[in-house]
Amino acid sequence: MSSSLTFEELIERKRNGYEHSAEEIEAVVSGYTAGDMADYQMAAWLMAAFLNGLSGDETVAMTSAMVRSGRQVDLSSIPGIKIDKHSTGGVADTTTLVLAPLVASCGVPVAKMSGRGLGHTGGTLDKLEAIPGFSVELSPEDFLAQVRSVGVAVIAQSPDVDPADKKIYALRDVTATVPSIPLIVGSIISKKIAGGADAILLDVKVGSGAFMKTESDARALAAELTRVGRELGRDVVCVMSDMDQPLGMAVGNALEVREAVETLRGEGPQELTELCIALGAKMLVMGRVASDEAEGRRRCEAAFADGRALDTFRRWIAAQGGNAKVADDLTLLKLAPHVREVRTAATGFVAGFDAEGIGRAAMMLGAGRATTDDAIDLGAGLQMHVRVGSRLEPGSLLCTMYASDAALFDDAQRRFHAAVRLSDVAVTAPPLFHDL
Ligand code: URA
Ligand code: CA
Repeated sequence: MSSSLTFEELIERKRNGYEHSAEEIEAVVSGYTAGDMADYQMAAWLMAAFLNGLSGDETVAMTSAMVRSGRQVDLSSIPGIKIDKHSTGGVADTTTLVLAPLVASCGVPVAKMSGRGLGHTGGTLDKLEAIPGFSVELSPEDFLAQVRSVGVAVIAQSPDVDPADKKIYALRDVTATVPSIPLIVGSIISKKIAGGADAILLDVKVGSGAFMKTESDARALAAELTRVGRELGRDVVCVMSDMDQPLGMAVGNALEVREAVETLRGEGPQELTELCIALGAKMLVMGRVASDEAEGRRRCEAAFADGRALDTFRRWIAAQGGNAKVADDLTLLKLAPHVREVRTAATGFVAGFDAEGIGRAAMMLGAGRATTDDAIDLGAGLQMHVRVGSRLEPGSLLCTMYASDAALFDDAQRRFHAAVRLSDVAVTAPPLFHDL
């Protein structure tokens, strides 16, 4: 369906605050994806949409047009309810590496397409590539076959699935139009539906390390994600979890795989473990293998305790060509050769972190990319040793940094120190969940 308006007229309508028809939204999305609408025109339309907003109907129309912009993955040959979990981006968020094998070991299939890290946030694909031999490229047939036999496969987002999102997101990233609720909703929900999900579990991050800095913004985003997903026929569940400090203790790709393995062994950081059990319990209920969350929790805890989750991780890694011995020998995960211990000169307590700043420090060590075509150092990053509430005295170890070039340490260390807030009086840790 095409609108009779020119792109210039469509931009003018949004600039003047009109509500587009579904046909007009379709004309913008398909025109831009096809290359008929120029980058400068889409940039102008996006800024108009950012400033004037999109109505609920416009957001649904945009999401639906994005789903139809490319191939839609068909997961119907995999038995059961296919649930995709998505986090709105965080620091030290190793959840997928733990959650995917955890729920797969309990009978919920995981057929996931994932992305790479950008800026201060990490990406699941980069983390998986820190496992020697692991391949994130599988043919569509091998992807489906692996989910049927192992229960889990995670691959790179393929360029022909939701091409509209890839083009629009890249443009938003350089035109200051990322933090818009309707644009974020269109991006996330369209990707999940085009990827074949029956149901979507969303972990909306709140705090300094997240897009949504306040609880009320995060709540508004969660409500709109749920509404649009349901209007398009998908079961959507949202939780809101804290990003006022990094989720885990490791920031960097090989370091985060190490942390994921420790968590699967039941020896991981408490918040990461708790988040995986809480999300896993919800996925077991959404996938109808547990009748309620209490049963879901019991099953997840049992899968950690009896080694089934770790065993599914081994089979998953091996199926994608990776060295599954990393599950038993963490020294197989290569860390960058230069090591610096970062200590404090202060006496007191850790009052808080700027999680984005911690992510930036890791990026400066080589663990992340500033632009999408930057190279990444999979062995670089930082291992934290303190949480909010930790007691400090002069000489206390704050973190250990890893880099391939020792010249990177000084700037990264300054960035890290700037991201740690201290207090003279005892501090209690923030709650992990803002809302379940
Ligand atoms: N994550 C996405 O996938 N898209 C957005 O627009 C923001 C966060
Ligand atoms: Ca940017």
